[in-house]
Amino acid sequence: MMKRRALIVANWKMNPDSPERAQELARTTEEANLSFKRAEVVIAPPYPFIPAVKEVLSKVKLASQDAFWEERGPYTGQVSWRTLKSMGVSHVIVGHSERKKYAGETDDAINKKIQAFLKGGITPILCIGEWEREKREIPRIVEDQLIRALSGVKKELIRHLVVAYEPVWAISTNLGSRPDTPDSAFRAGIYIRKILSGAYGRRQADAVRIIYGGSVSSRTIPSFLREGGMQGALVGKASLDPQEFAQILRAASAIS
Ligand code: PGA
Repeated sequence: MMKRRALIVANWKMNPDSPERAQELARTTEEANLSFKRAEVVIAPPYPFIPAVKEVLSKVKLASQDAFWEERGPYTGQVSWRTLKSMGVSHVIVGHSERKKYAGETDDAINKKIQAFLKGGITPILCIGEWEREKREIPRIVEDQLIRALSGVKKELIRHLVVAYEPVWAISTNLGSRPDTPDSAFRAGIYIRKILSGAYGRRQADAVRIIYGGSVSSRTIPSFLREGGMQGALVGKASLDPQEFAQILRAASAIS
């Protein structure tokens, strides 16, 4: 497997509450990243804060939490991936469970987005993960989500994809949440890579980055990257706490 710098994605969700605070948080993240250097860091702020955040970033990259698959046209309320790209956005989170739950995001919409973003030269961060886990095995639904999301995607584009394995029950804001174990994340990683390998061949599959999301903290990140074999993390709550996020970047840099 290709050894790469860890990819750490900060998913700010609907936070913070002003462009000034967003800029402040982005600045401290940029500074932390500059001092630890080794991780590849991406921030996903709410849409309206993108320009303010962009102003203070140099090494840290910019993501959006969603984007529409069409480039232009009569789509009230949607934001085109091309517009976002022109504003400096390089990554887009796709299929997050909160978008499925609150915005009715369907498998078909996720698939259209993955296709459009890969073709358009933007990196999709595809979230997959089960809502519940009863047994030790990674449920079949994870495979179904992956296959449906990638339907029709050209083989040569697949290496630009990032897959975030994010079991929904592990997301910090969900009732009774707890982080997955590194051992289970490891098995999920193998499972996902096997599916990719079967569909696109070993070389393409090995180039896809697989990261973990769900209650990641500075305490748990080292084991997800080491024992869990994850190539990065999708971080929600902890990315809003500047000290804690700096510690996550420090830990990820030490391992990368
Ligand atoms: P969390 O969120 O780190 O707060 O669990 C992760 C996410 O929802 O992407």
